[in-house]
Formats: sequence, structure tokens, C-alpha cells
Amino acid sequence: MELRAARESDVDNWKEVILIYNSALKQISTKLEILNDEFHHVHRYNPIEHIKSRIKTSESIVKKLKKRGYESTIENMIQYVNDIAGIRVICSFTSDIYQIAEMIGNQSDIKIISIKDYIVNPKPSGYKSYHMLVTVPVNLSDRTVDTKVEIQIRTVAMDFWASLEHKINYKFEGNAPEHIKKELLRCSEMISELDKRMLSLNDEVQAFSAKED
Ligand code: GTP
Ligand code: MG
Repeated sequence: MELRAARESDVDNWKEVILIYNSALKQISTKLEILNDEFHHVHRYNPIEHIKSRIKTSESIVKKLKKRGYESTIENMIQYVNDIAGIRVICSFTSDIYQIAEMIGNQSDIKIISIKDYIVNPKPSGYKSYHMLVTVPVNLSDRTVDTKVEIQIRTVAMDFWASLEHKINYKFEGNAPEHIKKELLRCSEMISELDKRMLSLNDEVQAFSAKED
């Protein structure tokens, strides 16, 4: 499956579009690394554990457009597929998530399009994560293109859950048996509890070392 690219100019367009999304990912990654370094400089602490980024495959883009009833054109993919450029930020604590989200929001050239807080409002599956859809300007030789990037921010524990749930859903093609779905929900609750306890443990340790300094 390929996006419709019958003419040579379409292939060129496609390559240019992917180049732009890749540049947007690089910009957001660099911004996050700078924020992490600065945070470490000020607080002697890294809020970001690691960052993963990816460009959606053409197959997945076509599938998504089809599912929503759109023709597979480059214009439609730019307009309707919000997660062509995706970046996942993994942190230690829930508090880090909101700190990072705020720092991203404070960047003068980043525009926030939408926010979905699946930590406050988890999905029925038990999925938790903080999603930001933003645009970042990509400066080309002759023009500037505001480019959409989907940022997912979550703790190590939330990431652990999401990757297992994703594997399970893939295996059962979205129709996992009820008892597995229930068990996943229970695990998701346990993860929230774990995140809470790890955070309060960390807060206590931080207060202790502040006294020692
Ligand atoms: P799409 O899910 O991308 O069609 O759009 P949406 O508007 O529903 O976006 P949403 O913010 O709900 O989800 C976007 C992304 O979040 C997905 O591509 C996944 O990476 C992740 N995600 C959302 N829900 C789940 C879930 O239940 N389980 C897992 N493992 N990941 C999820
Ligand atoms: Mg979804």
C-alpha cells in the first residue's frame, strides 16, 4: 500500500513532506534535550528518562485516512493525520510530566493545538498518558512551514503498561478476552498507585537531602 503517487511530482512532494516532519521531530527533540540539561543545571535533577521519536509509516497513514473515509492524498494526510511526527517523552514521576508540558508550552515558537490529559481522565482501557498536539515552525530555504507533532508524555510505569497493552491488542486484533482486559485495568490502577508512592518517596528523600545541604 502506498499513498497515491502516480506522478513523479507526487513522489517529490511526498519526500519533501517527510523531510519537513523529520525536521520538526529534530527540533522538538533538541528543545527537550536543552530543557532537560537546563533543569539539571538548576535543580541537579533530570526530569526526562528518555525520548523516542518516529515518523508514521506510509502504510499506517493510508490505513488511518481510509478508516476515516478520506482519499489517500498528501493534502489529506497533512490536514487529517495528526501523528505523522510523534515523540514520546518518558519521565520518572507524574510531577515531571506536568513540568515538561509547561516548559513546552512556554516555548515562544511552539503553538499548542490541543491537549488530552489521559492521566486525569484515563481511557476505558486504563491507558494513561499526557498528549500534546503542537506545531513547530520549520524554516526551509524559501518558506516556513508550521508542522504538527504529537507529543506523548508518560512515566516509565505508564510506558510499561502501554507497551504491553499495545502488544496484547495487536495479538488479539483489538478483541482481547474480557478477563485480559479486566486484568489490564487492574494493572493500570496498580501503576497509578505505584507512581503515587514512588513520587511521595522521592519527595521525602528530596526534603531530606535539602536539609543535609
Ligand atoms: P488516534 O488514536 O491516533 O486515531 O487519534 P486520537 O484522536 O484517538 O488520539 P489519542 O490521543 O487518543 O491517541 C493517540 C495515540 O495515543 C495512539 O496512536 C497511541 O500511541 C496512544 N494511545 C491512545 N490510546 C491508547 C490505548 O488505549 N493503549 C495504548 N497502548 N496506546 C494508546
Ligand atoms: Mg485513539
